[in-house]
Amino acid sequence: MRQLAAKAIDLCRRIALCSEEPGITTRTFLSPPMRDVYRALGGWMEEWGMRVRVDDAGNLRGLREGRSPRLIVASHLDTVPNAGAFDGVLGVVLGIALVEALGDSTGVGIEVIGFSDEEGVRFGVPFIGSRAAAGTLRAEELPEAALAAIREFGLNPEHLAEVRLASDVAAYLEIHIEQGPVLESLNLPLGIVDAIAGQSRLSVLFRGKANHAGTTPMALRRDALAAAAEWIGVVERIASAESPLVATTGSINVEPNATNVIAGLARIGLDVRHACDQRRRTAVDRIITAANDIGARRGVRVEVSQRLDQPAVELNAALRERLARAVSAAGFPVHHLSSGAGHDAMILAPVVPSAMLFVRSPGGISHHPEESVLLDDVAAALEAAVRFARDWGQAGV
Ligand code: GLV
Ligand code: MN
Ligand code: MN
Repeated sequence: MRQLAAKAIDLCRRIALCSEEPGITTRTFLSPPMRDVYRALGGWMEEWGMRVRVDDAGNLRGLREGRSPRLIVASHLDTVPNAGAFDGVLGVVLGIALVEALGDSTGVGIEVIGFSDEEGVRFGVPFIGSRAAAGTLRAEELPEAALAAIREFGLNPEHLAEVRLASDVAAYLEIHIEQGPVLESLNLPLGIVDAIAGQSRLSVLFRGKANHAGTTPMALRRDALAAAAEWIGVVERIASAESPLVATTGSINVEPNATNVIAGLARIGLDVRHACDQRRRTAVDRIITAANDIGARRGVRVEVSQRLDQPAVELNAALRERLARAVSAAGFPVHHLSSGAGHDAMILAPVVPSAMLFVRSPGGISHHPEESVLLDDVAAALEAAVRFARDWGQAGV
C-alpha cells in the first residue's frame, strides 16, 4: 500500500504544476490547466480499465463497470488561489489508487469523480460540479459568465440535468485532508467525519462616491472603502463573540483602486460558518444589519447578494459505522470529528448515503502552498478504503 500511496502523492504534486499562474498552484473551474489534469488522471483511469469521460459540468468521471449498487469515490480538482497540492485532488487520486489496489477482487461497480468546482473561486458560486452531479443545480442559477465558460470549454450547459448520478448509486465516499489541527494534536492518521458545518457566502457591495483625495474634506466624503473597513472590524467582533461561529471577509475589490482617489466602490466577499444553521443565519442577519447601519451613517449605499446558503449536514450513520470498522480492521484507532471546511460530500449527502474519511494535515495547514500529507497516513487511508470497498462488495447496502 505504501508504494501506491507514494505514487498517489507524487501524482498530486505533479497535478499541482497544472496551474493558471507559473510557480504557484491556482486552478479554477474550467480553466485551461484543467485539461492537463483530465489527461493525467484519465490516463491512469484508463490503465485500470475504467471508462473515462468529462461530463457537461466539467467533472472527470471514470467508471469501473461492476455489480450494482455502485460506489462513488470522489472529491474536487479545482483549487483556491496559491493553493497546496492535496486539497481535493488527493481524494480523486486515491479513488483511482483504490481501483488499482482492489484489482478484480470485489467486482463492485466504482465510479471515481473529480469534481470541476468546489471552491467557487472563479464565479463566486461553489460546488458547481457536485451540485450538477447531485441533480440540484439548474443552469438558471449560474451567472451568465459561468455558462459562457462552460460553452467555451466545449461543454453544453443545456445538458446539465444529464450530469446527475445514475440511479444505481448507493454510496458516496470522499477521502480528504483534514485541513485543521485536530488529528495531528491527537497523533492520529485518520478521522471519520460525522457532520459538516453549514456555510453562507455573500457579496457585499459598498457604493460611495469616488473623488479627489487632496481636495475633499474628511467630513464631506462618501468613502466606500472606509465604510467597508469599519464593517470588516464589526464582522470580526461578531464572530469572535459567538464562538464557534467563524466569519471571514476574505476578498476585496476596490474601484478605482488608486492611492489619490477616494474609493467609490468596495466589494467584499463574506463567508460565515456554523454547525447550527439557525445560529449561522442569525449571525448573517446581524452582519448585514451592521453593514446597512454603517452605510447609512456614511452616505454609502450597501447592496448584498447571497451566493450560497448551504445547510450543515450529518453524514450517513450506517456508512460512518462501516468506515469505522474499516479503519479499525486496517489497524488504526477510530476517531470521529466534524468538519468546519465545506466538502462535496455535503452536496451529495442529501441525495445518496455519504461518508468522509479525513487524513491528518501536518501543521493543520491548508489553502496554502505548505499544505502536506504523510506517506504513512495516505497509505493508512488507502488501506481503510480498500477494506471499506471489500466490505461493501461482500455485504452490499
Ligand atoms: C472549501 O475548501 C471550503 O471553503 O471549505
Ligand atoms: Mn478547499
Ligand atoms: Mn477541499
